[in-house]
Amino acid sequence: MPLLAPGVQPDAPASYFPAVGFPTALAPMQDVTGLPFMNVVTGYGPPDLFFTEYFRVHAHARVDPYILSSITENKSGKPVFAQLIGEDLEHMARYARDLQQYPIAGIDLNLGCPAPRVYRKKVGGGLLRDPERVDAVLQTLRDACQCPLTVKTRIGFEDSRNFGRILEIFSKNEVELVSLHARTVKGGYRSIPEYEYVTQAVNSLDCPVLLNGNVDTAEGAIRLKQSTGAAGVMIGRSAIRNPWIFQQIRELQNGQEMTHPTHGDVCHYIRDLYDALSNAAVPEERQVARLKKFLNFVGLSVDREGGFLYQMRRARTRSELEDACQQYLLDDCLIDSPIHLAPFEGLVARPGTEVSSCSG
Ligand SMILES: Cc1cc2nc3c(=O)[nH]c(=O)nc-3n(C[C@H](O)[C@H](O)[C@H](O)COP(=O)(O)O)c2cc1C
Repeated sequence: MPLLAPGVQPDAPASYFPAVGFPTALAPMQDVTGLPFMNVVTGYGPPDLFFTEYFRVHAHARVDPYILSSITENKSGKPVFAQLIGEDLEHMARYARDLQQYPIAGIDLNLGCPAPRVYRKKVGGGLLRDPERVDAVLQTLRDACQCPLTVKTRIGFEDSRNFGRILEIFSKNEVELVSLHARTVKGGYRSIPEYEYVTQAVNSLDCPVLLNGNVDTAEGAIRLKQSTGAAGVMIGRSAIRNPWIFQQIRELQNGQEMTHPTHGDVCHYIRDLYDALSNAAVPEERQVARLKKFLNFVGLSVDREGGFLYQMRRARTRSELEDACQQYLLDDCLIDSPIHLAPFEGLVARPGTEVSSCSG
């Protein structure tokens, strides 16, 4: 069931991709891309595809109800792929079968998580050290899945020596979509992406390839798609920073004028996030702490000196957060002025924030 086969039925996976143009996906991000964030992004112009944060599969794991809600209660009307991380063949098959009771678009295997506590268990990015195990896991999932099987991978563990073999294994197991984070596992989140491997994947696979890694702007997305031949892009951190990005890509691609959010719009977005994430049962300080996970990315493009980041990280209450917004986004001379939502050079998310959870 290839994703882009011509003449497929309307409900076949190919219908998820626009007939002409540029498929986009929101990257899976643990503790970020749950139902609240997916719903917020949908309000700003959704991607074509969603992926859940990973479901951790082990002997005692049952389908996680919180992650499941991002599939069953998703308001976007867009397909949601369920991502699995694990390597135990029996339990991967069981979990994949259980998930197929729900309206998933497909099963996605995580081959990228760089957190040492994860890769040491030979799952996520750790599997890339053992291509034959990847083959066994994919064969097992292929047998267990009546739905599309997709993969999110990096180019290798510490280098790209296994990349060619890994691509052969994807082909052999008829993987239907590959999202390629163009770094090694050891490269974490800051090494320079090596996009030439996206071109290699495009040239060796029959299925579509989504380019992932540091796609920061709509212009950059279009440039990278053209230079690598990727079918489309998957965007993570920049979608937290700029939820308009999927809409902007569509506008640019269609020759329309691109949406330019203002500082005031960003404040509106921050309030939307707060409301979506808030839970009356949780103390305010914890709600603010949860929002900071998102604001660490938004803050990278608010002001060149990092003043917003500094102030919001010290906030304990919603009203202290509002003070930071007032100063850096709602000031009379800022509120209606456009904001360029790409990170300022030299500003980085607080160490430990972006990679504190297992991330692929
Ligand atoms: C906070 C965070 C959590 C992540 N969690 C996952 C995950 O659960 N599964 C996965 O495949 N990748 C995960 N990733 C990796 C992203 O999907 C993506 O590959 C990476 O951030 C590079 O894309 P970007 O430069 O567009 O952010 C995570 C990344 C971040 C920053």
